[in-house]
Amino acid sequence: MAHRPKISVVGAGNVGATVAQYVVEKELGDVVLVDIIDGIPQGKALDLSQAGPVHGYDSRLVGSNGYDETADSDIVVITAGLARKPGMTRDDLLFKNAEIVGGVVDQVAARSRGAILILVTNPLDAMVQLAWKRSGFAPERVIGMAGVLDSARFRTFIAQELQVSVENVTAFVLGGHGDSMVPLPRYSTVAGIPITDLLPPDRIQALVTRTANGGAEIVALLKSGSAYYAPGASTVEMIEAILKDKKKILPCAAYLDGQYGVAGLYVGVPVKLGGAGVEQIIEIKLTTTEETAFQKSVAAVRELVEKLKL
Ligand code: APR
Repeated sequence: MAHRPKISVVGAGNVGATVAQYVVEKELGDVVLVDIIDGIPQGKALDLSQAGPVHGYDSRLVGSNGYDETADSDIVVITAGLARKPGMTRDDLLFKNAEIVGGVVDQVAARSRGAILILVTNPLDAMVQLAWKRSGFAPERVIGMAGVLDSARFRTFIAQELQVSVENVTAFVLGGHGDSMVPLPRYSTVAGIPITDLLPPDRIQALVTRTANGGAEIVALLKSGSAYYAPGASTVEMIEAILKDKKKILPCAAYLDGQYGVAGLYVGVPVKLGGAGVEQIIEIKLTTTEETAFQKSVAAVRELVEKLKL
């Protein structure tokens, strides 16, 4: 019998529920939703199951306040934690979310030794480093979702500015998921044409700034909670690349072991995502200015990770 992939999503809040929704809508596998709040994962799983006949999916959804149902997952997505409130930075969440994510990783790693972990909880780069240490998993099986979202935001703004289809726009973002992220305009294209040939530097800079503040812009609008549709969709693109062994090049927080001159740290870089997780780190040549911005971002990530004393 064909193997039906099992995707567990810990944290059945806004991002977790959106991940579950997009996963079943694409029929990527069965979903287990886990949360500490009694009734929330069960209720959302049941509600999403009942959308199945309308959308035409047969994925099974289960909600739980425990972890036994997650046993032998192929992928575990971790979104558990606190989300930002207006005026908070992602880093303000560090210690509280480290405690939550550490506990979650212990539970899921014990029951799904072969799983690939995708971290979503912020501050992302520090959380994925923590999850890697705590799980004892090989680094290629612990990955952070950030770059797909950041580049999706950049692509949206580029498409709006040039009034072209988002499908024609590719974008490239490096570095940590935070204010120090490094969008790379010369590798960001419209139908293959670099945006540096299509837009003046001041407009590009405006789009870059808006991308770096993309999460905060939404937090300010929502007032309670942070973004979840685009983060959910970005996570599901990674899940799909892994489960279908697509070997898709996507920017993700991945463990660097000397690449880009960085060793022993998770940072956002382009990787090849396939059945084994991160199958390759794609190294590109950076200009001096890009290199300076990238190293600044790496330093910000390292500073945060050091606070966790892993
Ligand atoms: N175990 C399981 N679930 C937990 C735990 C825990 N120890 N602690 C908190 N949760 C759950 C909460 O009960 C809540 O349902 O995590 C969920 C988080 O959901 P939201 O508050 O809706 O936050 P969300 O918008 O989904 O963001 C989650 O993703 O993008 C990041 O910055 C964001 O760190 C945040 C995370």
